[in-house]
Amino acid sequence: MDIPVKRWYEAVQNRYSQQKYMAKEIKEFTLRSLGNKVEKLNKIYPEVRIEILPNSIKEILPALKGKYGNFTESPAFIAFIINDKGEHRWTKMGYIGEAAILEATALGLGSCWIAGRYLKGKSDFNIDLKRGERLVAVSPLGYSSESYNLTRHFISKLFPHRDRKNVKELCPDGYDPDWPSWVKNAIKIASYAPSRLNRQPWRFYYGENKLLLDSVGEPSSYKRLECGISLLHLEVGALDSGAEGKIKFGGLGLASFIKNR
Ligand SMILES: Cc1cc2nc3c(=O)[nH]c(=O)nc-3n(C[C@H](O)[C@H](O)[C@H](O)COP(=O)(O)O)c2cc1C
Repeated sequence: MDIPVKRWYEAVQNRYSQQKYMAKEIKEFTLRSLGNKVEKLNKIYPEVRIEILPNSIKEILPALKGKYGNFTESPAFIAFIINDKGEHRWTKMGYIGEAAILEATALGLGSCWIAGRYLKGKSDFNIDLKRGERLVAVSPLGYSSESYNLTRHFISKLFPHRDRKNVKELCPDGYDPDWPSWVKNAIKIASYAPSRLNRQPWRFYYGENKLLLDSVGEPSSYKRLECGISLLHLEVGALDSGAEGKIKFGGLGLASFIKNR
């Protein structure tokens, strides 16, 4: 993937899930920029795709079973769609989906992953799905009004990612402070990823130029998706520290970043 490293590195630190949105329409330029990026993202893996819809998130939410939280109307929303076949498709969905989220963040838009089982016909608005496709998550898109919510705003400004697990807990085989700085930075940035109820199901293992990401316990579909989200963050963190390399799906864990020697 073509990663604008500095831009998304900053977005990782600024992003947090937003439930409240202004009624204000999204600027045309902003929507077009995001649309262009999404078009490129949609060409990367045939198993997954993203769609931006000019509808309020409230139009689709009644059809999503398992969601939580109170959302306001939003001027648009993102749909995350996967095919029912294909290796690593859930992890890829998280990885590609988070790229859209980070780009939206960089463009000044608020977002919030919302996952749930899509029950077609339960909402007035129906997503146009092709044969074999499944809607697995959505996100509202718009200008957040939560920055006017003092408590939340101040807490997150003062303690960004205040509620993430300690890196030691995230590295079950041990965390060595003498690891190369790219590894430590990648783990830190990966730990800022969003997850359902902030459960943070990702774990990291490092050795021989390879930083491996796996889920804690059995990797359910949504844990795979969340690990995919974290994988993109991990790559952004590694690249930002100057490590050159590439990601690989599968192998010992769900995915890894392998640094060039
Ligand atoms: C797959 C997925 C599903 C989520 N579903 C919801 C949801 O239904 N409602 C909600 O308010 N937040 C949802 N979230 C957002 C998480 O609650 C949020 O990421 C987590 O609490 C960490 O907060 P942060 O994103 O602000 O860093 C979801 C996140 C992910 C990755």
